[in-house]
Amino acid sequence: MPRTLEIEGLELRIFPARNDAELAAADRLADLAGERARRGLSCVLGLATGKTPIGIYRELVRRHRARDFSFGNVETFNLDEYWPIDLKARGSFHRFMHEHLFDHVDIPRGKRHVPNGSVPAAEIPKQCRDYEDAISRAGGIDLQLLGIGRNGHIGFNEPGSDAASRTRLVELTEETVNDNRADFDDPSKMPTHALTMGIATILEARELLVLAFGAQKAGIVRDSLRGPISPRLPASFLRIGAKDRKVTVFLDEAAAAGV
Ligand code: F6R
Repeated sequence: MPRTLEIEGLELRIFPARNDAELAAADRLADLAGERARRGLSCVLGLATGKTPIGIYRELVRRHRARDFSFGNVETFNLDEYWPIDLKARGSFHRFMHEHLFDHVDIPRGKRHVPNGSVPAAEIPKQCRDYEDAISRAGGIDLQLLGIGRNGHIGFNEPGSDAASRTRLVELTEETVNDNRADFDDPSKMPTHALTMGIATILEARELLVLAFGAQKAGIVRDSLRGPISPRLPASFLRIGAKDRKVTVFLDEAAAAGV
């Protein structure tokens, strides 16, 4: 059983081990999609990449294969993608999503959205507007999954991001580039820019499920939850309006050490 704690309307669940948190997160996603399917409704999920959600996707794939769970009513929107990037390149978030989820489950084709990091510079503003429009057309995001970068970014909203920001092109910080370099075949060719949902886009989701695991996230988790709300630490924006929507933070004991 997780320990629970409340901070300014955010519900923290602190699990003895990472795997317990991953199973509980998979439960939440499956319960929400299942409950909406029973009411004949679609379920719009905001998805993240990176190391944090891998175990959740593994569990959802397992359940789907066990015929325990269908994604037939699910539409997904990923937070971000590098730019410029060949969508099939190792390191791209398109490829990540195919490898960890899309190729193994039944989310309908055309209902899986990842910002397109292969477009030329001139098409970026339209691509970003279209992404926001597609989210609105889908009825908004029911549940957004989020990890936290070591510098406090959510999506690729790096320190300095505005609370009113929308889907746009951003420059990655040196820390983020260094953290993710190893995902690329040629680390020296890792893109230094990305397309990301904005802070305002993320905060419009009706529910946020934030996850952080391991001792290397303890400092940033503490500062985001206990420090001042500031653009210097985009994850602190999760506390804005947290009383008006459901915001749950799943941590393992190591990541929770400072809260
Ligand atoms: C990924 C994303 C990022 C990651 C963050 C944590 O789509 O938007 O904000 O969630 O960089 O990355 P990991 O999970 O690799 O520690």
